[in-house]
Amino acid sequence: MSMNKPKNPIIAGLDLGSTKVSFVIGSVTPEGKIEISGLGHAPNVGMRQGVVVNIEATTESIRKAKEEAELMSGYQIQDVWVGVSGTHITSFDSKGMVAIRNKEVGSSDIDRVIEAAKAVAVPADRQVLHVLPREYKVDGQDGITDPVGMSGVRLEANVHIVTGGQTALNNTVKCVEKAGLRINGLVLDPLASSLSVLSEDEKNLGVCVVDMGGGTCNLIYFVNGSVAHSSVIPVGGQHFTHDVAVGLRTPQMSAEDLKKKHGCAMSSLVADHETIDVDGVGGRKSRQIPRKDLADVLEARAEEVLSLIADDVRRSGFMPFLGSGLVLTGGASQLEGLIEMGEFIFEIPVRRGLPSQIGGLSDIVKSASHATAVGLLIYGFQQKKELLMQQAAGDLNIGDSLDGVTRKIKNFFGEIF
Ligand SMILES: Nc1ncnc2c1ncn2[C@@H]1O[C@H](COP(=O)(O)OP(=O)(O)OP(=O)(O)O)[C@@H](O)[C@H]1O
Ligand SMILES: [Mg+2]
Repeated sequence: MSMNKPKNPIIAGLDLGSTKVSFVIGSVTPEGKIEISGLGHAPNVGMRQGVVVNIEATTESIRKAKEEAELMSGYQIQDVWVGVSGTHITSFDSKGMVAIRNKEVGSSDIDRVIEAAKAVAVPADRQVLHVLPREYKVDGQDGITDPVGMSGVRLEANVHIVTGGQTALNNTVKCVEKAGLRINGLVLDPLASSLSVLSEDEKNLGVCVVDMGGGTCNLIYFVNGSVAHSSVIPVGGQHFTHDVAVGLRTPQMSAEDLKKKHGCAMSSLVADHETIDVDGVGGRKSRQIPRKDLADVLEARAEEVLSLIADDVRRSGFMPFLGSGLVLTGGASQLEGLIEMGEFIFEIPVRRGLPSQIGGLSDIVKSASHATAVGLLIYGFQQKKELLMQQAAGDLNIGDSLDGVTRKIKNFFGEIF
């Protein structure tokens, strides 16, 4: 395969989902916009609820998705931002405090206060994924989002720390490396998704993003523009499919198909005369049933899943601060009628979130299923903005000098991210 030499710097994102693997390639324009140039996906049977259960199968899916994306874009990819999620993720709040060195807050003070907040006991079987600043205080004055340049003697930070299970993360890393890729960083799935589906306004007004995947729903809360909380609910699209298979006595594959093509989360939205064909199990012939029967099965599960989400929102204590309500994204959010059902269950506004704020071949990723993969590119861009902007402007050679500069920038950012 002959590969082009990229004009603009390239970034890649790998969403390792429990139903599918997506690989997205994009480039950064000199104006700082991300242009999508390739997408590859492959079904994944090697993961369950965000955890690798089969190394070979997962590695193979990554290879397939990567090759497909490379072919489409014409670029060969070595480094990738990788999304992680699942029930092994836990998060908690922490605080740090330091003395301000030169009576005025500098970026090194920020580094130190984050470091101090991070210096909490994290069990040996867990790895810190993110230390997300919520707010800073200078000499007791709270609610500060960017303290750089402020005068004072004491700097405090409230942070939200996200950790993952070491074993689960190690196995994820192993699969990605076995597929011939180097990892730029591991990123919490819903954090990535939120970057592609939310506007700055929504984050500032307060919003909860629910990434509804195959095996889990991953939630992330934004209050006053920064991440305040995150959680995982162990139900997803696969549970809907299972219910259809059992309820309508049809094979899993047909159930999945029926759900996507004819499914509806609210039975009242389906007309009485509509009918669908349902395959029988074990060679029994297919039969025709009212579409309402399918909707009845899905409605029961939708009600349960959305109620679990509503409980999580209530328990979080952030309900009064979610001015922009809920944004549902991820493959399972695409079920027809789900948003309408959500409007009944939640006492706050709800909408579906699709990847936006990107250019290039953006059409191919304009689906809730690709919110995470696209978000990984945006995350990667934000982490290495300076370096990528210099490259895009032609101030740096892409390639040879990349490693040295990457290291420098990494040192600069330290372990913050
Ligand atoms: N049109 C649709 N209607 C209903 N459900 C859908 C539709 N399209 C996809 N899904 C469901 O979405 C789920 C997959 O979502 P997604 O691709 O976000 O999951 P994933 O990232 O692989 O999994 P996870 O995030 O849980 O690891 C599947 O259960 C699939 O059946
Ligand atoms: Mg996912």
